[in-house]
Amino acid sequence: MLTPTLRRIVLSSLMLTVALAACTAPTSAPTRSDAPRQWRIGMSQANNAEPWRQAMNEQIAAAAARHPNIQIEFTDARQNNAQQVADVEAFLSKGIDLLIISPNEATPLTSVVAKAYRQGIPVIVLDRKVRGDQYTMWIGADNRLIGRKAGEYTARWCREQRRSPCRVIELRGLEGSTPAQERGDGFREGIASNPDVQIIASQNADWLAERAETLSRVMFDANPTVDVVYAHNDPMAIASFNVARDQGRNTDAILFIGIDALPTPDGGIQAVRQGKLDVTYVYPTGGAEAIDWAIRILEQRETPPREVILDTEEVTSANAGVMWQKYGGQ
Ligand code: FRU
Repeated sequence: MLTPTLRRIVLSSLMLTVALAACTAPTSAPTRSDAPRQWRIGMSQANNAEPWRQAMNEQIAAAAARHPNIQIEFTDARQNNAQQVADVEAFLSKGIDLLIISPNEATPLTSVVAKAYRQGIPVIVLDRKVRGDQYTMWIGADNRLIGRKAGEYTARWCREQRRSPCRVIELRGLEGSTPAQERGDGFREGIASNPDVQIIASQNADWLAERAETLSRVMFDANPTVDVVYAHNDPMAIASFNVARDQGRNTDAILFIGIDALPTPDGGIQAVRQGKLDVTYVYPTGGAEAIDWAIRILEQRETPPREVILDTEEVTSANAGVMWQKYGGQ
């Protein structure tokens, strides 16, 4: 039999042992899961040379920098599908935990994206799409909707300006990239309500200002009257404006529409403030969202939605100042 005092001592030393064991166990036998796991992410960019893509890379890098356990490597395919396939193959042989890709053109990139996905690597497709469903998720804005808004704006403007016919020239993005198709189709839906609107010329300038400049010169030369220029991105719209101005056309009488609305000195919002463009549409890069989802997929083991659709906004001279502030213009 233990005396009450002894019993108290035995009991409290037992409790102490248990308590000590409880608090020493993790430190004396560290488990691997205590150390934050390092994640290697490969980001395959279609073409660094375009300002909007530079903004996307910057936003990805800034978001990734907030997670010290993310290591991110960027590649630049320079608008070359074969190069982008090789870039992704190189990521796969080096070993990555997650792939982010903004594909140059849909069809040529589909199989390498599917290959990564089938190897069990989560794949986040950004802005431009691939074919089929062999990827984890897609993040981007609704390009058909943006095209439709641009078309509706055009239909309204032509009506208000009593232009009949109202002659549109279109500068398209790279044909095999999905936003070009969707922005073109949406625009045609948007103008359908006004039969006076006629697309008199449509050329593929591959998203590039230099090509848009050459093609605009050809299209303006061939068409003495142009009422509207609809370009699938701002660099092409601004290039076309410059050509019209240099040709001595009355640019105030022409509606210039672009897409992207980057808050940079050469970007679309500033071009609206300067009176070069009449309207542009915010096309968010999705860079921050891609990193957010990468972390949720890798660390929280979340199953993401198939699509995350980002918002757009119309920018005109009426709100360009506010938009400049809102999007952190500098
Ligand atoms: C840049 C860019 C943007 C455009 C996007 C469409 O390469 O042309 O200007 O909004 O790609 O994918």
